[in-house]
Amino acid sequence: MKVLIAYSSRTGNTKKVCDAAYDEIKELAEVDYMKVKDVKSTADYDLIVVGFWVDKGTANKKAKQFIEGIRETKVALLGTLGAPPDSFHGDKCRQNVKELVDSSNEYLGVRLARGLVDPKLTKMIKFLPLNKEIREQMYQSSITSREPNEEELQEVRAFIKDSL
Ligand SMILES: Cc1cc2nc3c(=O)[nH]c(=O)nc-3n(C[C@H](O)[C@H](O)[C@H](O)COP(=O)(O)O)c2cc1C
Repeated sequence: MKVLIAYSSRTGNTKKVCDAAYDEIKELAEVDYMKVKDVKSTADYDLIVVGFWVDKGTANKKAKQFIEGIRETKVALLGTLGAPPDSFHGDKCRQNVKELVDSSNEYLGVRLARGLVDPKLTKMIKFLPLNKEIREQMYQSSITSREPNEEELQEVRAFIKDSL
């Protein structure tokens, strides 16, 4: 079984989640683990796992384009976001990334973990030209955000093992 784990991560949260996934299956399959930008071809993999960070409710641009290009294999997604994964926003994100996966693939699902929001972004939120309620929600998610925790990493490990 040949597996590709490809990720995009600005500040390390998504890499942490993908490291856990890689660690879980590296002895169980032939696994290539790299950044999305370093992937030369997606052909010949039995399973492709893509790690993304949430940018405005969907996968960040690099990961989004990569996911959209995958054809005729099994696809599992792993994402991190500032908001709690079990929120309405988390549900929206799960729905949005599912729609990026081409129908020629077998979509195995997505697992989301929280990711600490870059403090530079948290400072900027107050000045964004957004509806006051949305801005306040974003600010609250950011100041309460944290790195992925052990429970979330455990869920990711189980999901990726099941995906094999
Ligand atoms: C430009 C930008 C947009 C973001 N948009 C969202 C968002 O819509 N919803 C959310 O919950 N978090 C959002 N975040 C927070 C990131 O998704 C979160 O911090 C993620 O864990 C970053 O992953 P990384 O450390 O792998 O780069 C945003 C962060 C940035 C920098």
